[in-house]
Amino acid sequence: MSLKGKVALVTGGTRGIGLAMVKALKAEGCKVAITGRERHNLPVLADMYFPIDLSVRKGSMAIVPLIVQELGGIDILVNNAGAQFHGPANKYKLKDWDHSLELMITAPAMLSANAKRYMPPGSHIINILSTASFQGARNIVGYVVAKHGLLGLTRALAIEWAPDIHVNAIAPGLTETDMLADMTPERKEFLKSITPGGKFCTPEDIAEALIYLVNSKSIYGQVITVDNGWLAKQGG
Ligand SMILES: NC(=O)c1ccc[n+]([C@@H]2O[C@H](COP(=O)([O-])OP(=O)(O)OC[C@H]3O[C@@H](n4cnc5c(N)ncnc54)[C@H](OP(=O)(O)O)[C@@H]3O)[C@@H](O)[C@H]2O)c1
Repeated sequence: MSLKGKVALVTGGTRGIGLAMVKALKAEGCKVAITGRERHNLPVLADMYFPIDLSVRKGSMAIVPLIVQELGGIDILVNNAGAQFHGPANKYKLKDWDHSLELMITAPAMLSANAKRYMPPGSHIINILSTASFQGARNIVGYVVAKHGLLGLTRALAIEWAPDIHVNAIAPGLTETDMLADMTPERKEFLKSITPGGKFCTPEDIAEALIYLVNSKSIYGQVITVDNGWLAKQGG
């Protein structure tokens, strides 16, 4: 479809992968609403900005109707906002567990259900997963469980809402954003050395996959993995 004039919502559109996707959608002529937790200087780029913590239940309920009212509809929803809380699984804090599941499963589910009420046939919902949707990772059990759940949500909604709504996902591998801020340079070099592509993704790599998916017409319930080959070798 031509994306010109289409209305998109990107959660977590303030930084990193979300910001790259906002820029890519704007370059295609979309009107773009975003969420973030604080007021960044992004309203310059985005057409609407919702400062909202998506880990708070029902916090997201008002967003979609306001977008429809202000921007004239909703055609694309990108459930991108995500965060990692570190800790060993046997001592994982309950608040971090709850935050992970609310932010990366419940909020996407509620936003998707809200958006479906207004989306015309041919609309797209894209969930941003992770390679941790397909394999374990140490010290981030809430994140791994939430990302596996978001894969399940993608498949469940895809078959229930086809053919009108295309529900698909992108699974990024390690991508240079603030999410990797705590990683030492040595750790980064090691991880790159065991990645077939020999590098991390850029946020723009993930945005490229988004533009492909939202232009597609016959893809339902699929995941595009953009990970420099990480999953192809199962991390071994
Ligand atoms: N970077 C990677 O290596 C990687 C790999 C695989 C998957 N991913 C996934 O890609 C997505 C984007 O990650 P990123 O790397 O771009 O991370 P990032 O740079 O840390 O950005 C995270 C975004 O999510 C928003 N966010 C975080 N917690 C939130 C909350 N409780 N409520 C509302 N918004 C919240 C942030 O908003 P504020 O700006 O307001 O904080 C920010 O816009 C996430 O779903 C992540 O899991 C990333």
